[in-house]
Amino acid sequence: MCGIIGYNGTAQATPFLLDGLKKLEYRGYDSAGIAVSDTDGIKTEKRKGKIDALASAVRKRNDMTGTIGIGHTRWATHGAATNSNAHPHKSGKFTIVHNGIIENHKELKEKYLRLCRFDSDTDTETVAHLINRHYSGNCLEAIAQTARLLEGSFALAILCEDEPNTIFCAKKSSPLLIGVGDEASVASDISAISRKSDSLYRMDDGEIAAIHKNKVEFYDFELNEKAKSASPFTAGNNTSEKGEYEHFMLKEIFEQPEAVRKTVEAYIGADKAELLQQIKKPTGIYIVACGSAYHAGLIGRICIEKLTKTPTSVETASEFRYSDPLIDENTSVIIISQSGETADSLAALRLAKSKGAKTIAIVNVPESSIALESDFAIYTKAGAEIAVATTKAYSAQLAALYALSIHFARIWQTADSKLLNTLEQSLEQLHENIREALCLEKQMKEIAQHMQNTQHTYFIGRGIGFAVAAEASLKLKEISYIHSEAYAAGELKHGTISLIEKGTKVFAVCTPDTPEAKIQSNIDEVAARGANVIAFTSSPNIKANTTVISTTASHPLFSASTQVIPFQLLAYYTAKLRGCDIDKPRNLAKSVTVE
Ligand code: G6P
Repeated sequence: MCGIIGYNGTAQATPFLLDGLKKLEYRGYDSAGIAVSDTDGIKTEKRKGKIDALASAVRKRNDMTGTIGIGHTRWATHGAATNSNAHPHKSGKFTIVHNGIIENHKELKEKYLRLCRFDSDTDTETVAHLINRHYSGNCLEAIAQTARLLEGSFALAILCEDEPNTIFCAKKSSPLLIGVGDEASVASDISAISRKSDSLYRMDDGEIAAIHKNKVEFYDFELNEKAKSASPFTAGNNTSEKGEYEHFMLKEIFEQPEAVRKTVEAYIGADKAELLQQIKKPTGIYIVACGSAYHAGLIGRICIEKLTKTPTSVETASEFRYSDPLIDENTSVIIISQSGETADSLAALRLAKSKGAKTIAIVNVPESSIALESDFAIYTKAGAEIAVATTKAYSAQLAALYALSIHFARIWQTADSKLLNTLEQSLEQLHENIREALCLEKQMKEIAQHMQNTQHTYFIGRGIGFAVAAEASLKLKEISYIHSEAYAAGELKHGTISLIEKGTKVFAVCTPDTPEAKIQSNIDEVAARGANVIAFTSSPNIKANTTVISTTASHPLFSASTQVIPFQLLAYYTAKLRGCDIDKPRNLAKSVTVE
C-alpha cells in the first residue's frame, strides 16, 4: 500500500526509481509517479495504472535526467486513481510524495490554505502547500513546522528546488528506511533500498532526515539534531524472482515446506524457549491480527487453549484497537503480522503495551515496526513474500503458533511432557506432510475447471476446519473475485442455509478434531437442499458429491497446515482460469500501512 522510493547518488535517478517502484509494486497500487531534479529544475511524471505506463511516458519525454529523485506508488484513499491524484504533488519549490493519511487535512486547508489552488483531491497536496507556505529559505524549518501540524500517519519524501542535492524525509507511523553507502536511497521497505548501501537507518516516528549523497542527518520535529546508529545493510533477502513459476503466488505455495521447516527448526526444542521464560502464565491472552494472519490466530487460539489452559481470544486489529480491551500487566498479547507494518496491528501492539501487557510478535520482517516494538519477537522464516495473497507466511505463522503453544505449555507446566514431546516430533515432520499435500495440485486444477462460472461459494467446517474454511474462502475471493463465505458448519441452519439452492458449491473442510458424524450431518443438510458438496477429508467415511482425500498432519492439532494447501491451489487455478491478476488482485495491498 503506497510505496515511497528516493535516490541520491551519482548515477541517473530515473532507472533506479522505476526499478524501485517495480520492487514496491507488490504492496498494491493504482497509480505511480516520479520526480527528478537536475540543473534545469524538478521534472515530474505520473500516471494512473501500471508502472509500465509511467515508464513509457517517461521514455517519451526524454528529459527526466538528474541524479536525485523521488517516486511513489499510490493506493487511492483520498480521491480516485487518476493522473492528477497520483504523486508527486507540487507546491512552489517543493515536490513531495507521501504514504499515510493526513486526518486533519480539511481543517488545515480551512485554516491555512484557503487561498491555495488545489490540483488534486488528495490529502497529500495539503502537505505540499503547507510546506511551501511555511518556507522562507530554510527547508528543514518549513518541513518541521508542517510536520508538527499534521495528524494521522505520514512518511514523506521531499525535493526542494533551492536544495537540489538533498532529499528531505519526515515520518510518523508509516515506515521509511534509508540506505547509505556509495549512493543514498530511501524506501518504504528494504526490497527497494540500493544494493550499494553499507548501512541501513530505520526512521523513527517524529523524525526528519536530510539525505545527502553519502550521508544522512536526523532531526526531531523541533529540529534538534539526533545521533542515530545504523545497522549493516545486507542485500540478503532482497532478491525475489519468479524463476520457473508463472506467478509469485504459485512459487510461494510451493515454498511452504521450506518456510515451515525453517520456522520449526528455529523455534522448536526446549533450549529455544529461553526467551519466553520471562513470560509468566497470564490470566488471559489476546491474539490480534488482520486478514490471513487473523485466520492463523484462530488456529493459534485452539492450540494455546488446549495446551496451556489459558483463556485466549482472537481479535481483528481494527476492532481491537477501539474496543477498550480488558488488558493489564497479567495479559499477554500476541500480534501476528507478515509485514510487521500493518497499521491496525501496530496500533493494537502499542495499545497493549501502553496498558502494561507483555507483547509477543509473530512476524516475517525482522526490521519491521511490529518486530522492533514488541517485547518478544518470533520470526517466521518464510523469506520475502511477494504475492499479495499470503500463503507461505500464513503457513509459517501456523508453525510459529504451534511452537509457541508448546513452549508455553512447557514453561507453565500445563500439559503432559510426553504429549509435548510427541507434538514436537510431529511438528518436525510437518513440512513433509505439507509436501505431500501439495501433490493434490492436479486434482485442484481439475476442480478449478468447474469453478470458472461460479458466482457464489460457501466453505464450511467445524473447529480447526472452520478456521481453515475462513482462510480458504478469503483466498478464493481475494484472487478470483468469486463471492465466497466461510461458515461454522453447525451455524448454517440459523439463516445462511436459505441461500443454498440447486448446484450451489459448498466446500466442506473436515478436520480430525471434530466428530465425523457432526460434519457429515452438516454436509447432508446442504446436499438435501441441492448443494454440490466437495468434501476435503482424510477419512474415507465422509460422503459428499465429491470427496477429496487430503493428507493430514501427523498430529491432528496441526491439521490446518495440510488442509489449507489444496484450497490455496484451488484459488490459484480458479483465478488463473478466470484471467485474474493473481499476484496483484484489484483493490488490495500487501502491506496495509493506513488505517
Ligand atoms: C493484507 C494482505 C493479507 C494479509 C493482511 C495482514 O490484507 O493482503 O495477505 O494477511 O494484509 O497483513 P500482515 O502483513 O499484517 O500479515
